[in-house]
Amino acid sequence: MSNKNLHEAKKAKNDEFYTQLPDIKKELCYYKSHFENKVVYCNCDTEDSNFVKYFRRQPVKELIVSNGIDFRSPESIELLKEADIVVTNPPFSLFREYIAQLIEYDKKFVIVGNMNAITYKEVFPLLKDNKIWLGVHNNQSFVFKTPYTNDLEANRKFCIQKGYTDPHYVKVPAINWYTNIDHAKRHEDIILFRTYYGNEESYSTYDNYNAINVDKIKDIPVDYEGLMGVPITFLNKYNPNQFELLGTSDNGLIDDKYKTFPGLTEVFVKDYYKSGGTGTYREGNPTAGHYVENVAKMVYKRLFIRNKMLKNDYPKYDNYNAIEVSKVKNIPSDYEGTMGVPITFLTKYNPDQFEICGTRRWFYDTSLGITNGKTIVNGKETYDRIFIKNKKLQG
Ligand SMILES: C[S@@+](CC[C@H](N)C(=O)[O-])C[C@H]1O[C@@H](n2cnc3c(N)ncnc32)[C@H](O)[C@@H]1O
Repeated sequence: MSNKNLHEAKKAKNDEFYTQLPDIKKELCYYKSHFENKVVYCNCDTEDSNFVKYFRRQPVKELIVSNGIDFRSPESIELLKEADIVVTNPPFSLFREYIAQLIEYDKKFVIVGNMNAITYKEVFPLLKDNKIWLGVHNNQSFVFKTPYTNDLEANRKFCIQKGYTDPHYVKVPAINWYTNIDHAKRHEDIILFRTYYGNEESYSTYDNYNAINVDKIKDIPVDYEGLMGVPITFLNKYNPNQFELLGTSDNGLIDDKYKTFPGLTEVFVKDYYKSGGTGTYREGNPTAGHYVENVAKMVYKRLFIRNKMLKNDYPKYDNYNAIEVSKVKNIPSDYEGTMGVPITFLTKYNPDQFEICGTRRWFYDTSLGITNGKTIVNGKETYDRIFIKNKKLQG
């Protein structure tokens, strides 16, 4: 976009939300040591910006301010190359392009963005791969200065309560910080106190994802080893050592192997509208759907996570090309190969889900090993086993 277009965008006034100093200070104090003696670039700012005012008082090596030039212009890119860290509140309307540029030029950054950006297809893969994460304070209502007059009564009241009496201040909810600089909060575990086993009826399973639904972060069970769908605000508490982030129902950004159907089924969508559901949903949509007391319900954007602490390291048999799963509840949802499971598996067996390949005495697939009537792990014989494969994962 040329500078001319930037002026057009400015005229539309969509992106003119000026960040206030208390919000900047509250977050940036956690990265102080990273800014020291570094070249900081505020590339969506002018001299009036509170980011600029903040850094003028910090012991940085140099502060560069873009002063109105387009962040995509060659001029701004030259300045970006010189910078160590970029800190700003970029235009929300260009957030996707903005973050892609920071990644392309391999820059450290602390920037403001809204909650919805989590599931953008340009942003989510970066969060999933732990290349970026949320800052310390997220899901906050910020008060921004704007060129317009705020005539929303409740919104105005909120601003006044915060001390912003001028009518040009406006409250914007669900604001996050996005960064790739480490901070202590992302290494704190979420304390979990609910259990899944014994309370299975409190957690429904989705119709189209192989995962259980968890409506509130505090209800994440401590003992569930499979995939769980949680609200996107989970990311505010996410510790990558405790959980792994595997996908989102928004945009269907998840490996197909976790889907029980490619999307919402025709039957589910029909059931949904039959029971008075509203909105526009079609067969094949990635939205997560579940039945609650036999009523089909759509679930607002979910992140799919798995507890890393419960991730089993399944041993291989000495004499079979298969893994040993000693408890039926520990059967992994994503293992494509052959698994040896206790014979009690048969009480739960669903032939649409699993294929039985044999027992340890009888086996029809000789590529799996020698059938000598024993399943041995590290030289020790196990209890009786049945061999199974997950049908949905077979190519
Ligand atoms: C959300 S406001 C934040 C302003 C300032 N960074 C702050 O936090 O107070 C985003 C700013 O980016 C500017 N902007 C819009 N498009 C831009 C572009 N392509 N390159 C650089 N700045 C842009 C807007 O004019 C607006 O002032």
